[in-house]
Amino acid sequence: MSEFFVSNHPLIQNKMALLRDKNTCTKEFKEIISEVAMLLCYEATRHVELVPAKVDTPIMEADVNVIDRNFAIVPILRAGMGMLDGLLTLIPTAKVGVIGLYRDPETLKPVEYYCKLPKDIENMEVFVTDPMLATGGTAVAGIDFVKQKGAKKITFLCILAAPEGVKALQEAHPDVDIYAAAYDDALNDHGYIVPGLGDAGDRIFGTK
Ligand code: URA
Repeated sequence: MSEFFVSNHPLIQNKMALLRDKNTCTKEFKEIISEVAMLLCYEATRHVELVPAKVDTPIMEADVNVIDRNFAIVPILRAGMGMLDGLLTLIPTAKVGVIGLYRDPETLKPVEYYCKLPKDIENMEVFVTDPMLATGGTAVAGIDFVKQKGAKKITFLCILAAPEGVKALQEAHPDVDIYAAAYDDALNDHGYIVPGLGDAGDRIFGTK
């Protein structure tokens, strides 16, 4: 079974308090989502393998360790885009793909409308991002798609997870690790996480 990591870091918890606050404005909300994504990325890359190398310091040759791996970041549109900058801050060489899925408000099922991924994604370590792991439908469909395109090593990064979403994602993709900044109790009848932080897309893009 994959790892389900929930951060207990004080910086993340303090930022989560600001994200949950309905009085946090769009500018601040967007910045904090990005910061939390960066901190999660730091946690989610802990296992990345290093290879020995040598560099010349101004003094002498030194033995160092470097990452010899290509990364892809694949936000699920549109809310996943809010996490992109944070990840790119730590992995600026990552290639970026996007998956366009929205949740049908009636069925709550994901519908694909646009997908574009890096060509050699099968050789990359892939981070799929979506701030809210609610029912899990979108995350499962997004990861289905990335796997169909050949990706083998996939990690899912979200800001907030609900038990239903974690269960659905672990059942559908037991090989995919999940990293979350916080874990809430449940979903309400509209598929929103409670207590949650509201509609992440609307709060990131100021559309409400
Ligand atoms: N999507 C959101 O933006 N918020 C939720 O609570 C659930 C899904």
